[in-house]
Amino acid sequence: MNSLQDLVIRPELKSDAAALEKVICQCYGNNLQSSLLSTLTKNAGLKRSLSLIALSGNEPKGHILLCPGYLRAGTDIYRTLILVMLSVLPEFRKRGIGSRLLAAGIDEARADKYGSIIAYGAADFFRKAGFVAAEDYNIRWPGSQDNSKLQVLEIESRSLDQVNGIVEFPEFLSAESLKKIFTG
Ligand SMILES: CC(C)(COP(=O)(O)OP(=O)(O)OC[C@H]1O[C@@H](n2cnc3c(N)ncnc32)[C@H](O)[C@@H]1OP(=O)(O)O)[C@@H](O)C(=O)NCCC(=O)NCCS
Repeated sequence: MNSLQDLVIRPELKSDAAALEKVICQCYGNNLQSSLLSTLTKNAGLKRSLSLIALSGNEPKGHILLCPGYLRAGTDIYRTLILVMLSVLPEFRKRGIGSRLLAAGIDEARADKYGSIIAYGAADFFRKAGFVAAEDYNIRWPGSQDNSKLQVLEIESRSLDQVNGIVEFPEFLSAESLKKIFTG
């Protein structure tokens, strides 16, 4: 299928809320993500550029949400960006929108000097973008979640050479809401 020539990616605005909720619900099938989204976007610590929207014909077709997190290994702590959601409307998939949103997220991580991006699920899609199994770096999920679905991308070559640890989320995200998001 052709890529969308008029695709624009920009930070989410307050006025996007209703349209964005529809995109997220169509991709994840419940309302939890959109309530999480408002928690995240209302949080003073979250930069606007971590919630990006893809528009074509002036309508949202996709969205990416990242949040700052950490990898904790004993007393060592490393900054990472956690990809919380990546959504493309079903009828617009396989036209490059997900890749463009992910590339914009990677640019953001690079600009802010994060060492890595962590993602969960959709392994085939993420592997094409260069992600590898987080287990290869001994990077693990907190609690009893399935580590085999966790993936990581080095932002600069070899930036993960000395890095390992357990993924740690910001305090304003409850463990319960995250569990529902990542496991459905
Ligand atoms: C995963 C998702 C964001 C991909 O979006 P997309 O716009 O279709 O992705 P792209 O068109 O940029 O695809 C890039 C490449 O990945 C491939 N790809 C996309 N989705 C894929 C999938 N589910 N399985 C395997 N390969 C996939 C495409 O064929 C393309 O390959 P190519 O470069 O060789 O042509 C979209 O399917 C989606 O919203 N899924 C539901 C939510 C989800 O699972 N999000 C990811 C976890 S947070």
